[in-house]
Amino acid sequence: MKVLLTGGAGYIGSHTAVELINAGHEAIVADNFANSSPEATKRVEQITGKSVPLYELDVCDKAALEKLFAAERPDAVIHLAGLKAVGESVAKPVLYYRNNIDSTLSLLEVMEEYGCNRLIFSSSATVYGAPDTLPITEESKAGGCTNPYGWTKYMIERIIEGAAVANKNLSAVLLRYFNPVGAHESGLIGEKPNGIPNNLMPYICKVAGGELKELSVFGNDYNTHDGTGVRDYIHVVDLAKGHVAALGYCAENSGTEIFNLGTGIGYSVLDMVNAFERANGVPVAHRIAPRRPGDIDACYADPSKAARLLGWKAEKNLDDMCRDSWTWQKNCLAGK
Ligand code: WQD
Repeated sequence: MKVLLTGGAGYIGSHTAVELINAGHEAIVADNFANSSPEATKRVEQITGKSVPLYELDVCDKAALEKLFAAERPDAVIHLAGLKAVGESVAKPVLYYRNNIDSTLSLLEVMEEYGCNRLIFSSSATVYGAPDTLPITEESKAGGCTNPYGWTKYMIERIIEGAAVANKNLSAVLLRYFNPVGAHESGLIGEKPNGIPNNLMPYICKVAGGELKELSVFGNDYNTHDGTGVRDYIHVVDLAKGHVAALGYCAENSGTEIFNLGTGIGYSVLDMVNAFERANGVPVAHRIAPRRPGDIDACYADPSKAARLLGWKAEKNLDDMCRDSWTWQKNCLAGK
C-alpha cells in the first residue's frame, strides 16, 4: 500500500517509514519540520534504499493537503503530526487544541474527499491519566487527562470514532503508545528533542554524553518497588512495527479499534539508570529531586489485545533500548 505519514520526519514517523518500506509498502512523508528535519527522511532512504517523497506542509493547511492527495492518492494515512510536549501544552493550551485538532479535522475532510479510508492515529497512554488499576487495558478508564496534550489525544480519538460511525467505509486504528525509547540499530535516526529534553531517556543520554551535568530523579516516594516512577518503555522499532501490523488490520476491518502499544513491563527511573550504565558501561550521574507536578506513580500496559488481534508484540528488551539510544546519542555528539 501507498501510505502517507503525517509528521513522518519525526522520531516515531521516521522509524515507522523504515518498517513500512521493509514490509513492502510505499511511504510518503508530510511534515512542517516544527520538531523534525528533512534529514531524517533522507536517512530513511539511506537505510532502506528506497525513495520517500517528502512534502513540507502543515497538516492544518487543507489546500496543501489536497494537492498532496491529488498527486499521490495514498491508500492509507498514519497520522503522527502534532505538538507533543506535555509541559508546553500546559503553558500554551490553545495552541495545542488549535494545532492538534485542526490538523486532524483537515486530514479527515481531505481523506473523505479523495476516498482514502484507512487511518492509523498516533494516540498516547496519557489518555488514561492516573490509572485505577494496573496493567492498563484498552477498556481501562480513559479521559482523566492531566494536561491539554493528553486531552487533544483523547478528543481526537473521539472525533475519529465519530467519523468512522458516519462514514462506514472508514477503518481506523487508534494506537495508544506507552513510552517510546531507543533508536534504529544503524544509529542514523533517533529522537532529537529541541533544547533540554523533558523525557527520561534522552536526558540520560545527554548526561552520559557529558552534555548535561546530572539527571534529576523526580521523586523517590512513589508507591513503586524503589519509590521512583514506573513506566512501560517500548523500543521505537517495536512501536514502528506495531503500525505495520495495524495497517494490515485496517485493510481487513472497518469501524474503529483501539490498541495499547507497550511491552507490559514496568521499569522505574532507577531501573533505567542502572540498565543504561550496565548496557553501555558509562556512568549516569543522578540525584534525587522533588516530584515533577503531574507525574503519576506507575503506568504500564496489558498488550494482549494487540497480540491477539494484530499478531504483534514487542520483541526488544531493555538492553536493546539502552544500547540503541546510546549509539544514536554518540552519533549525534560526533555530528553524524
Ligand atoms: C518518565 C519517568 C518521570 C525526566 C511523557 C508523556 C507521554 C509520552 C511520553 C508523548 C517519570 C521520570 C523524567 C527526568 C525523571 N509522550 N523523569 N527525570 O512523563 O511518562 O510520558 O512522555 O506521547 O504522553 O506524558 O515520560 O520520560 O517524561 O518520564 O525522573 O529528567 O521518568 O518522573 O517517572 P512520561 P518521561
